[in-house]
Amino acid sequence: MSIVAERSHDTKEIYDSIAEQYVEFKKAPYRTAVEQYTFFDLMLLKNERERGKNARILDLACGDGHYTRKLRDLFPDASYLCGLDISSSMIDIAKQREIEHPKNIDYICADGKDLPPSETPYDIITAIYYLNYAQTHEDLRAMIKGVYDQLKPGGSFYSMNENVRSPMDGFNNPMHKKYTFYREYSGDSLRAGQPIKYTYYWDVNTPSKCVFFNYYMPPSTYEDLFKECGFSSFEWVPVQCNPKIDNVSFFDDLVRLPHVIGIIAKK
Ligand SMILES: C[S@@+](CC[C@H](N)C(=O)[O-])C[C@H]1O[C@@H](n2cnc3c(N)ncnc32)[C@H](O)[C@@H]1O
Repeated sequence: MSIVAERSHDTKEIYDSIAEQYVEFKKAPYRTAVEQYTFFDLMLLKNERERGKNARILDLACGDGHYTRKLRDLFPDASYLCGLDISSSMIDIAKQREIEHPKNIDYICADGKDLPPSETPYDIITAIYYLNYAQTHEDLRAMIKGVYDQLKPGGSFYSMNENVRSPMDGFNNPMHKKYTFYREYSGDSLRAGQPIKYTYYWDVNTPSKCVFFNYYMPPSTYEDLFKECGFSSFEWVPVQCNPKIDNVSFFDDLVRLPHVIGIIAKK
């Protein structure tokens, strides 16, 4: 049986079942050294330092609110901050954290594809791993159109996404296990809608039960759909490692063959 035959197509069901383990794996060092550094320092702070101060911000596919809480720390005076996720287990964890350590964040359980156009649109929408759950061209269009409809004119979308521009040796490469994950697909080539299976590893020899699937769409499909939905600009942002940390060289392989890439799009 091929690896992809084991999959469930239901992303909500998967995240409802792996929510607690997923939260544990957010502690992996590459999250702060590479993912967070690229997203916050190279993308958000570089572009939104002023507007972020009193912006309305929506964090799509917020999961347990890991980055939503960090957004509040980054922009303490943002006028409204909301996290949205399709998984009720993820949102339950996020709401519990909000009760324990209030940060003035609203959390909503909903499918980002089904949101009606907002009457009070957002200045900034963030999404750390969201568009890569589109299994079809239509799904991806609905997600991107949903973002567009929730943004104010002049608003911006910032995302970290499955690296659909990855070289082929960025897949099925055991090297990634030292960063706590293995990323694989089966078949001879990547086609639109193809599942990319992630297995998280406790250490390089020990896979966890935390398994989920992202879905591939060609980079040109992303670029075309952002344009078609009305965005005025679209940019890919390659990840970098924070140069100020002690062990920068440990992340060299990840930065050379990253599983993740940034997206900035302006309405
Ligand atoms: C890899 S997790 C990322 C969570 C969080 N952004 C983070 O980085 O910690 C992906 C999240 O996307 C959510 N998700 C997937 N499809 C979604 C959809 N259509 N609408 C809203 N959330 C969705 C999943 O439930 C899951 O919590």
